[in-house]
Amino acid sequence: MPKQPLKIEARKSPIHGNGVFATRKIRKGERIVRYVGALRTHEDVDEAYGEVEENGHTFLFTLNDDYVIDANVRGNIARWINHSCDPNCEAVVEEDDKGRPEKDKVFIEALRDIARGEELTYNYGITLDERHTPKLKKLWGCRCGKPDCTGTMLQPKR
Ligand SMILES: C[S@@+](CC[C@H](N)C(=O)[O-])C[C@H]1O[C@@H](n2cnc3c(N)ncnc32)[C@H](O)[C@@H]1O
Ligand SMILES: [Zn+2]
Repeated sequence: MPKQPLKIEARKSPIHGNGVFATRKIRKGERIVRYVGALRTHEDVDEAYGEVEENGHTFLFTLNDDYVIDANVRGNIARWINHSCDPNCEAVVEEDDKGRPEKDKVFIEALRDIARGEELTYNYGITLDERHTPKLKKLWGCRCGKPDCTGTMLQPKR
């Protein structure tokens, strides 16, 4: 079967560092890419990156209560997708039908039609265990540039 042409590419982003851009039109609801990396427990990741995370840069995706996907290790292009307060994509966790947390998967899907050349973004949904102080909000500052940008990637706690 002929391979489908790649619909995304990673390159420098106006938001931060590298980002991921559509190389063709992507339709609302389309599953774009799976977020992959090493599967690690929360304890393992806290031990490995506890202090590094203090700079607000992360390649970690919280999969569920048991596991985190660490895209520093065996990560793919999905790890370059930036956060936005008004995103065009969402991260969808597909739970294993047999309830095995280590088999859950994350996919990045289009929330709306995305034009060729547009940067892909999703809301990281980051909440920290500690209080979201002004200092932490600044550390996790958002530069998505959207009119409704909250100025931080940290989300209100429910
Ligand atoms: C998964 S990486 C995304 C790739 C990143 N641009 C890079 O080049 O490493 C996530 C990190 O990128 C940065 N980032 C992503 N979205 C951002 C945004 N809207 N504003 C500021 N920094 C952002 C933050 O440092 C965040 O922890
Ligand atoms: Zn923003």
